[in-house]
Amino acid sequence: MALFNKKKNSPIALPEKLPQHVGFIMDGNGRWAKKRGLPRSFGHREGAKNFKKIVRYCKDIGLQNISFYAFSTENWQRPKDEVDTIMELFREYIVDVRNFLSENTRMIFLGDKSVFDDDLREKMIRLEEDTAHYTEMTLLMAVNYGGRDEIAHAARILAQKAKDGEIDPKDITEESVADCLYTKGVPDVDLVIRPSGELRLSNYLIWQCAYAEYYFTDVLWPDFSPEDLNKALIDYDGRSRRFGGV
Ligand code: IPE
Ligand code: IPE
Ligand code: MG
Repeated sequence: MALFNKKKNSPIALPEKLPQHVGFIMDGNGRWAKKRGLPRSFGHREGAKNFKKIVRYCKDIGLQNISFYAFSTENWQRPKDEVDTIMELFREYIVDVRNFLSENTRMIFLGDKSVFDDDLREKMIRLEEDTAHYTEMTLLMAVNYGGRDEIAHAARILAQKAKDGEIDPKDITEESVADCLYTKGVPDVDLVIRPSGELRLSNYLIWQCAYAEYYFTDVLWPDFSPEDLNKALIDYDGRSRRFGGV
């Protein structure tokens, strides 16, 4: 039976040992809006608000690494007006993020930034640089992110190094691949939380989730609450992780 931590700022006792990295797949915004007869863009706006609320709560309870799937490499297939809304929200949040990110939070963007306008890309890079020394929590935001795309990107880096004679292909290890991923230095995902009832990963952190535990709920992302997160953390605490051992 796990020990419970009563010190952390949560209305209920949480497990003493929390996952080192929780990955959130923020799904269900469209259905949230549809249920209310609203355009999908309203769902995205509400989902973005909820992102702030959950980030704050994660900080309060002492989670150390949290990642959020905001836009996938496959999401570009959506209608242009929906993509435009999401990009607009993303712009707003980049500017606002300093206001709601409390002190000591490091920010990392996961994904290929080259598709973004120069000013937006520069803001993302500056935010990463300015927060690189913070240690209390790391917030990872996946935009234009795809797990397969990330692995292909790592393969290109390693192939170039081999071509330049910097490395010998024989010496490529799991660690050297991991060092070429966007998550370099961040622990693997321990717990993936996917709201909205879908039971899949949808190309999220496929390398880093090799031994992750999964928590699925029918709640739609804009309604996903700190209480839902508590439930996921307690459920995770009861799992038996063996990593291939006995
Ligand atoms: C998640 O919500 C947000 C993004 C994928 C950008 P969806 O927009 O996928 O919502 P549903 O799945 O259609 O309800
Ligand atoms: C996954 O949701 C991507 C994000 C939450 C950003 P999708 O709604 O795109 O996933 P599928 O299409 O249902 O697998
Ligand atoms: Mg979806």
